[in-house]
Amino acid sequence: MAQLIVALDLPTAEEAERCIDELYETDVIFKIGLEGLCGYPERIFAHAEARDVRLFIDVKLHDIPRTVGAAMERLVRPNASIVNVHALGGSRMMHAAVDAAAHRAEQLGITRPEIFAVTMLTSMEQRDADELGIGGDIGGIAMRLAGIARSAGCDGAICSVHEVAALKAAYGGNFLALTPGIRPENAESHDQRRIATPRSAVAAGSDYIVVGRPILTAPDRLAATRAILDEIVEARA
Ligand code: C5P
Repeated sequence: MAQLIVALDLPTAEEAERCIDELYETDVIFKIGLEGLCGYPERIFAHAEARDVRLFIDVKLHDIPRTVGAAMERLVRPNASIVNVHALGGSRMMHAAVDAAAHRAEQLGITRPEIFAVTMLTSMEQRDADELGIGGDIGGIAMRLAGIARSAGCDGAICSVHEVAALKAAYGGNFLALTPGIRPENAESHDQRRIATPRSAVAAGSDYIVVGRPILTAPDRLAATRAILDEIVEARA
């Protein structure tokens, strides 16, 4: 069953905490990204623990293997259910991330977080890949990076809904797909270019669906979240 992830893209700890307070009773995961991790990491970790909610730590680690492993060890905690890395860091770096997560989780006696790989940032276009000298079609590069991530022990990749079928066909249903760019019917698309509805994301086989602004800017965030959760359940029926 696809899980809903709410992106806490909010400028202050108070606002992020309020959002968790509004939604913690629903079955969602909260995504803390670089804005929150650079701005108020300890506050959000403490609040997530107090409310007993799951976190996706969207930290996109990318450094030498030892440094990534050390950072991963600091992030593993009971509420962290997903942490991500950049596949462009390479196989050894991703291995180090997965090993460190497993090692630290074992020390703590908890389940290790799932490790997801970012392949090519969706903000990048073909000319960006060309400029970097990464040869080939950008979609092909993303699929190749997903394969490397899978071989390195990552649990899944972050991709657009439109790429889920190809990802699953290439790497199997157990390799998980986490998809942003989701908009309920009639919602504003904002700066997202290739959007999909929660229903079509479930139909495509997404395992995790990330929604930010359609929930954050809703007059009633709880109602907006419940409507998306209902759509996910209906799409499965
Ligand atoms: O507000 P919205 O629903 O567009 O937020 C989507 C979230 O997913 C943001 O936190 C954004 O950074 C993240 N994301 C994305 N596209 C990617 C990777 C992450 O939109 N390829």
